[in-house]
Order: sequence, then C-alpha cells, then structure tokens
Amino acid sequence: MQAIRNYLRKNEPRFIRELCEYLRFPSVSAQPKHRADLVACAQWLVRHCQRIGLQTRLYPTPGNPIIIARTPRLQSANRPHFLVYGHYDVQPPEPFELWKSPPFEPRIEGRSLYARGATDNKGQHLAHLNAAEAYFKTGTELPCDLTFLIEGEEEVGSSNLAPFVRQHRAELRCDTIVISDNSIPSLKLPALTYALRGIAAMEIKLRGPARDLHSGIYGGAVDNPAMSLCQLLAKLRDSRGRITVPAFYDDVAPLSEFERKQLARLPFNETAFTKFLGVPQLFGERGYTPIEQRTARPTCEINGLTSGYQGEGSKTIVPAWASAKLTFRLVPNQKPEKIRKLVIQYLRSLCPPTVRMTIESGHGGAPYLVSPTSPQAQAALRALKTAFGYEPVLMREGGSIPILTDLKKILGADALMLGLALPDDNAHSPNEKFSLEAFAKGMWMSANLWQELTK
Ligand code: BES
Ligand code: MN
Repeated sequence: MQAIRNYLRKNEPRFIRELCEYLRFPSVSAQPKHRADLVACAQWLVRHCQRIGLQTRLYPTPGNPIIIARTPRLQSANRPHFLVYGHYDVQPPEPFELWKSPPFEPRIEGRSLYARGATDNKGQHLAHLNAAEAYFKTGTELPCDLTFLIEGEEEVGSSNLAPFVRQHRAELRCDTIVISDNSIPSLKLPALTYALRGIAAMEIKLRGPARDLHSGIYGGAVDNPAMSLCQLLAKLRDSRGRITVPAFYDDVAPLSEFERKQLARLPFNETAFTKFLGVPQLFGERGYTPIEQRTARPTCEINGLTSGYQGEGSKTIVPAWASAKLTFRLVPNQKPEKIRKLVIQYLRSLCPPTVRMTIESGHGGAPYLVSPTSPQAQAALRALKTAFGYEPVLMREGGSIPILTDLKKILGADALMLGLALPDDNAHSPNEKFSLEAFAKGMWMSANLWQELTK
C-alpha cells in the first residue's frame, strides 16, 4: 500500500488538472441545450477510464449516455465484486451573477476547487477512479473486481438507469455498491452515512381567466389564481413546522433514543449555521433538533413559484394562471406513491371552485436505510479511519439518491455511502467547491477500502 500512497501523493497535481478538465464540460442535465455537452463530457470520461486501464464502454440511452468501466477480470478467480456509482451530470449553475468566477471555469483558491459539479459529483467519483489507477500503475494487485457505473441523469431523477441496470444485471451483479455522492461533517469527522431521505416531486397549476385580465376592470369579480395558490400552499404546513396533509406521518418510523443520542453527538453550532445560510433565524418542526429536521424528518418544500408579470416595473393584471413546483422529502417507511396520492387528494379538497387545478407528478424515490453494523460497514469505517486519521461517525443525511433503492431491488446489493463533500461545499448553490484535501483523502480511502472489504 505504500507504493499506492506514494503514487497518489506524487500524481496529485495531475489529478487536480484532470478534475479541472472534467469540470469544464457544462453537463447540466436539466437543460436540453446542454445535451451535446453531456455527450462530450461522457466521451471525455470514457477516454479517461481507458487511459487508466479500465475496460470502458459508453451506452447511449433515450437520455444521456451511461458509462461502464471495469477492471480487467482475472480468468481463474471468482473474486468479490464491488460496484462504484457516480454521476457526471450537474445541477444548473444559475444564477450566474452570484458566482465569484464562471461555474465552468474551474478556479483554485487555497485548498478549494470552485466549479459547478466539483463536489456533486465529479470530484467524488474521480477520487475512486484515481485510486484504481494507482493500483494499476504501481502494479499492485487489486483484491477484488471493480465496476464503475457512471450516469448522466442523476440530477433529473435517473429515469433511464434502472431499465439499463436490469438489462445489464448479470454484468453488474456485485457484493456491495460504493457511492461517494454525499457529505461528512468535517475532515476531522469522517462518516459513514447509513440513511438518506426519499423524495416525491409534483407540480401544481391553477388556471383562472382565459387570459391575463386588467385588474382594474375585472379585479374583484374574478378569483386571482396567484392568491388562491398562495392560500392553498399555505395550508400544507402549520406554524409549528408540521405538514398538515392528512395521514402524512402515518408511516414515519419514529427515531429511536439511541439514534437521537448518536445524532446529538455530531458537531453543530446554531449561530455559525444560521450565519452560513444567511437566514435571520432557523425554522423547523417543533420538538426536533436541526440535524434531526434535516436528515430524519420529512419536509414539504416549494421549489419554484410562478405567476403573473415578472418583468421590470408594474403591470396591473389578474394573472391567468399560477403554478408551483413542490417536493416532499421522505423518511423510512414513507412511500413516494402513497404520499403523492395523499397530497393530491388534500390539494383537490382545498381547491376552490373559482379556479381549475391540474397536478403533474414528477420524479420520486424511496427513503434509503442500511445497517451500519454489517461487516461491510465495519470495513468502510476502518478505511475511513486510515484515510482521514480520525475516528469516523455514523450519520443520516437529508438528500436523496433514488437509484439506490432500484439498485438494491435489481442487484440485491446494499450501498456504502462514503461521502467526500463538506458542509460548506455549496452543492446546488452558486460557488460550488470541492476540498482538495477531501479529494486526496478520498483517493486514499478508496484504495484502502478494497483491502478492508476483502479481509
Ligand atoms: N448528491 C446528491 C444527494 C445527496 C445530497 C445525498 C446531500 C446526501 C446528502 C444528489 O446529487 C442530489 O442532489 N440528488 C437529488 C435527487 C433528486 C433530483 C431526485 C436531490 O437530493 O435533490
Ligand atoms: Mn450528486
């Protein structure tokens, strides 16, 4: 392992240059205009994987290409097989004006690399690829087979990945899935994440008049869809942070005292957190700590709200329609389909007869929970300790990776969630960054993980 360690150290400047190259592709999956950039980005990744020594193929899908890259298989051996998942697509960079430097022109400041996709997720899965490269280039024998599965539609719901995995089930069958697409509290507190929240997305639209109307001539005699929508949305949550959809909490598994104690041990400074977020005060479900609220309790969020005139100055109208994008984060054992039904039923019951309501369902994903005491989890904890030099913790996180549930169903394997993001990495926000320290430690963690998992 010393040879690998030296190799990783010596080649770090090149690894950083390569990550910068990778980050120059504006692989924004939500925006159709970037379709060609996603393909170019995937092709870059294919070339990169081939250069390292992986058997690599690019598979077109109805959406963005999927890449499978495998370590060369030994003829004789029936070795353990691990699947490393990652995604090369990124969130939209807007609003551009809040970036200190352009989102697709990587910039290094101190030990941070700024660019859209740096932490979510290009830097994180590149760390695993670099570790594999170190095994090959130092002639160190890997104790297992590895397959990298890297997709380009994670940020839009991974709709083409599950069918693909089903088709390639034989090749992808593995003992454990490894994914670094989440975070740790700090470099001194590495963590194994054992739970993620699920998600149910929908879009609601209220239509009133057939066209925007003069609010002076007609206002007062017709309903205002924007007003109706606001009144309706306001009924989704009460002042104590409880979601008011009937039966919404029925399937929520209560947090055990043991878990609450564990979560309470994670470092948290309310003043610093409040300041970092720029809010005047925190808000959340009464009776739970902010860490519990963000990771182990369900939420209802308005992600977008649109109606009426949005340009400069004023325009006196009753808008023809109003719409809102909603997502609910779900926790064990809530089911996205059931929650969707409950929410739609509730919204319909609230809709006044003065507007017409349509609701479109968006993506969904079940909450994910794995045993933190499995032998694989123990192996991961040892690899974390070796790489970071500190005792790792177990934690839950609030984000969602819906494909993990499908992978479990199709391949029968659980995932080790070994995040490399830091809390101030600004994922999905302007000035996203990745810590170069986390990058280096992540490579070394990955290299050790394969040893620990096969001990
Ligand atoms: N990397 C995140 C998921 C994540 C974030 C896990 C923080 C743990 C902690 C992932 O790329 C992501 O943002 N997923 C989306 C999923 C959605 C589009 C279906 C999310 O959580 O909003
Ligand atoms: Mn991600």
